[in-house]
Amino acid sequence: MEAREIRKKFLEFFESKGHKVIPSARVLPENDPTVLFTTAGMHPLVPYLLGEPHPMGNRLANTQKCIRTGDIEEVGDTTHLTFFEMLGNWSLGDYFKEDAIKWSFEFLTSKEWLGIPLEKLAVTVFEGDDDAPRDEEAAGIWKELGVPEHRIAYMNKKANWWGPAGQTGPCGPDTEMFYWVGEGDAPMDSNPKTDEDNWVEIWNDVFMQYFKQDDGSFTPLEQQNVDTGMGLERVAAVLQGKKSAYETELFMPIIEKIEALTDQKYDDDPRGFRIIADHLRTATIMAGDGVVPSNNDQGYVMRRLMRRAIRWGKKMGIQEGFTATIAKKVIHILSDIFPELNQEEMILKIFRDEEEKFEKTIHAGLREFEKLQKRLEGDTIEGKAAFKLYDTYGYPIEMTEELAEEAGLKIDREGFDQCFKEHQEKSRAGAQQKFSGGLADDSAECTRLHTATHLLHQALRDVLGDHVYQKGSNITKERLRFDFNHDEKMTQEQLQEVENIINREIQNDLPVHFEIMDPDEAREKGVIGLFDDKYAQLDNKVKVYIMGDYSKEICGGPHVEHTGELTEFKITKEQASSAGIRRIKAVVKANSPEKF
Ligand code: ALA
Repeated sequence: MEAREIRKKFLEFFESKGHKVIPSARVLPENDPTVLFTTAGMHPLVPYLLGEPHPMGNRLANTQKCIRTGDIEEVGDTTHLTFFEMLGNWSLGDYFKEDAIKWSFEFLTSKEWLGIPLEKLAVTVFEGDDDAPRDEEAAGIWKELGVPEHRIAYMNKKANWWGPAGQTGPCGPDTEMFYWVGEGDAPMDSNPKTDEDNWVEIWNDVFMQYFKQDDGSFTPLEQQNVDTGMGLERVAAVLQGKKSAYETELFMPIIEKIEALTDQKYDDDPRGFRIIADHLRTATIMAGDGVVPSNNDQGYVMRRLMRRAIRWGKKMGIQEGFTATIAKKVIHILSDIFPELNQEEMILKIFRDEEEKFEKTIHAGLREFEKLQKRLEGDTIEGKAAFKLYDTYGYPIEMTEELAEEAGLKIDREGFDQCFKEHQEKSRAGAQQKFSGGLADDSAECTRLHTATHLLHQALRDVLGDHVYQKGSNITKERLRFDFNHDEKMTQEQLQEVENIINREIQNDLPVHFEIMDPDEAREKGVIGLFDDKYAQLDNKVKVYIMGDYSKEICGGPHVEHTGELTEFKITKEQASSAGIRRIKAVVKANSPEKF
């Protein structure tokens, strides 16, 4: 069964059980600076799992775009993907264990849906500990449905408990469903606990009824939720009897394109094919959601993926630019499910630009590496030298490590990490300096422009997307200057829209006040700004300026008391500041109009 059909059936099935199908959220978490990417379907739903009413009701389902990049190095084997679709259904304080398990069983086994024979299924349930009891209830429901006792394994918290990784938040015991991939029939005594290589996890039903507190304790949640996740690519592979998702129709057109470009065969040596296909597929999804390659945060992960794929392409003999061609394939395969991929021109341009940039630096970098190799006494490259490659030539450290490995050399990774940390601290201090520079003058003019800067920051995020962050700010009595990350020149319409939003919020005369918060609380509330801004920090708390319900930003102040103290906001210039950074200059109309 093709992935397309599995996805369709899943959503139809849950629709028939009273669920509303919601669109996938972006892979950039909204209002959550604690993680770089959405890693599970439940992630965008946290506020609703904690009790806020969802506008679409309390039974939801979707296919969510998820990115997990913790193990980029593992990509190339049969199972790891950095981007995958998670099919999920949710009960927000509505149904619980019994319905969740029954429906999972029906969807998996009924001929009308996936039609998996019972002999090919096994499940695991939580064995219980001091925090929560052994889940006899879940096991009992499985038995009633017909799952034989010897296919039900009780496992510990590590295996059968789910919550957002290592953090506080909603969580609970889960029950997981597995598919038999071993030879012939599964022996009587085989289950996922005794025979983990032959059982592949395909679905996870989480019974989210606890909240993990800061101190590691678990308190009951007010509402009992169900959160489930089924990895689409993996299910497609096992149902098609394929060794990996790469061999399904989700990847084959990409793999075939790489075969044509390299004149090599996937079957002879699949690793490079998988790396290129996986990394560029993920980068395409990121581009569709507004990420652009850069040296920070999400942009850095994207750059790393793209550059690793390009390097593998070269290794496999591709001479010309090829990433945009692959992106096109990805768009073709997924754009009807994820319509943001229809911004094809924008996405392909990002790919071409990044490949060109990398091309320019790669020669210089390789030469530098060869020089370094010649100079080297012993077999270890100093951290400082590896950092120079990163800093000056844009070489991700993982790639330097690969070059070193090929040459039989080691890298002082600790030394590199130290240099990297120092560099980050320096650039942060730089950002703070710029920020505070704007505040040095607290005249009425500068204060007004400072408030306008906050409105501008938020308005740019509204118009261009949440990838936008302040990269610098400078305020004089006459004008504000604001630098932010964005890869393209803004259009006239976008500039106009930003102006309109700000002028609307000025008209709305929003009250401005500040609150002192724990950084964690600020993160939870979606506050933007530098969490380590020393001008806004006091005893491990941060100062957050709040403008009505429009803007929340960490800042030392000062600001006006009402946005109505500003008069008309106008952008006077929009230009490039450096690679990937735009600069806006703007004024607020003072009392005398000729100041424009
Ligand atoms: N949130 C659960 C998972 O990611 C369903 O496995």
